[in-house]
Amino acid sequence: MKTKFLYRYLSMILVTGGAGYIGSHTILVLLEAGYDVVVFDNLSNGSTEAIKRVERLANRKVHFEHGDIRDRKGLDEVLATYPVTAAIHFAGLKAVGESMKKPLEYFDNNVSGSIQLLKALRQAGVFNIVFSSSATVYGDPGTPVFNEEMPTGTPSNTYGYTKLVVEELLKKTQAADPRWRVALLRYFNPVGAHQSGTIGEDPAGIPNNLLPFIAQVAVGKRQQLSIFGDDYPTPDGTCLRDYIHVMDLAEGHVSALQALKRFDKGGVGIWNLGGGQGHSVLEMVKAFEKASGQAVPYQVAPRREGDLAQFWADPGKAKRELGWEVERTLHDMMADTWRWQSKNPNGYQK
Ligand code: NAD
Ligand code: UD1
Repeated sequence: MKTKFLYRYLSMILVTGGAGYIGSHTILVLLEAGYDVVVFDNLSNGSTEAIKRVERLANRKVHFEHGDIRDRKGLDEVLATYPVTAAIHFAGLKAVGESMKKPLEYFDNNVSGSIQLLKALRQAGVFNIVFSSSATVYGDPGTPVFNEEMPTGTPSNTYGYTKLVVEELLKKTQAADPRWRVALLRYFNPVGAHQSGTIGEDPAGIPNNLLPFIAQVAVGKRQQLSIFGDDYPTPDGTCLRDYIHVMDLAEGHVSALQALKRFDKGGVGIWNLGGGQGHSVLEMVKAFEKASGQAVPYQVAPRREGDLAQFWADPGKAKRELGWEVERTLHDMMADTWRWQSKNPNGYQK
C-alpha cells in the first residue's frame, strides 16, 4: 500500500475538520505519504491534542488554523497563506439524533459551510476536493448491497439529508465548471483507531455509535450495552453493518486524491469506502470480547427508529478505479479500539 503513496501529485492539502476522528487519522496517512497538511477546524468536536499526537507519530509538522468553514474571510486568509492544491472536506456535524432536533444548525453548518468552502476554493483557484459522504445517501433501496450505480434515496434523518444536499451541490458545481475534480466518498461504518493506540475516536458525552459504546462498557465507564432489537430478519436477529477500519478509510482518501489527478477534463468520482461484508451487533460484541479479554454485558432493547436491518458496500468500484481495498480485519478493528480506549479511558482529556 505504502509504495503507491510515493508519487506526490498534489502537495499541500487543506483538511477541514482535520482535528476530528477520521480527519486526524487521514492527516497522519497524508504526512506519511509526503503531503503537507493545513488543518482548518473550529474544534467544536475536535482536539488539538489529536494533532500534536499525529505530529509525534509522523515526526512532521501539521499547520493548524482555528476557524469555521462558515467564515469566508477566515477561509480566504488560510488559502492566501498556504499553497493549497486540494481540499479534503471533513468538517461537519454528525450526530443523527441531534440533527433531528436542530435542523437549522445542521443545514447551516454542513451545507452553508460547504458553500462558503467551495466559493473560497474557487476564488483561490483550487478545484480538487474530496468530500466525506455517507452510505446514508442511498436511503433504503430495498437491497442490502449498495453500489454507486444505484440512485440516491431518502435518508432517514436530517444529518443524512445534509450529506445528500452537499453531494448535489458538488455535482452541480462541477457540471457548471469542468475545472472541478470532485471525489464523493461514501463511508460505511468507520471504527477502530491507529494501531499505536495514540489517536482514536473521542465522542463527547454518551456515544451514539456502537463500537465507542462497547469500548466504554469494557473500560467500565458505562454499565451495559443496549442492543437495539434482536428481531430483525437477519441470521441472529441483530442488525448487520459494514464496519471499516479508520486507517483503511484514511488510506482511501489518499487513493482518491491520486485518482482526481487522473481526471484530465475534470469530473466527479463516487466511491463506496467499505469492506463489502456485514457483521451483526452480536458478532461485534463477541469479537470485541475476544480481542480485549473484557466482558461486555448487554441487554436487548427495542429497535432504534431509522435503523435498516442490514446493508454493506459493493466495494468493487473503489478497487477497480482507486486500486484501494480494505486490508484490516475485524480483529484489528477491535484490538486497535481497545488499545486506544484502555490507554486513553478519558479520550484526549487525560
Ligand atoms: P468528527 O466530529 O470527529 O470530526 C469533524 C471535525 O469537524 C471536528 O474536528 C469538528 O471540530 C470540525 N468541525 C465541525 N464543524 C465545523 C465547522 N463549521 N468549521 C470547522 N470545523 C468544523 O467526525 P468524524 O467522525 O471524523 O467525521 C468526519 C466527516 O465524515 C464528517 O463530515 C462526517 O459527517 C463524515 N462521516 C462520518 C461517519 C462516521 O461514522 N464517523 C460516517 C460517514 C460520514
Ligand atoms: C449511524 C447513522 C448514520 C451515520 C453513522 C455514522 C442512524 C440511523 N444512522 O449509522 O446516518 O452515518 O451512524 O455516524 O443513526 N447499536 C446498538 N446499540 C448501540 C448503538 C448501536 O445496538 O448503543 C446498533 C444499531 O442499531 C446498528 C448498529 O449497532 O444496528 C450500528 O449502529 P451505529 O454505530 O449507530 O451506526 P449506524 O446506525 O449504521
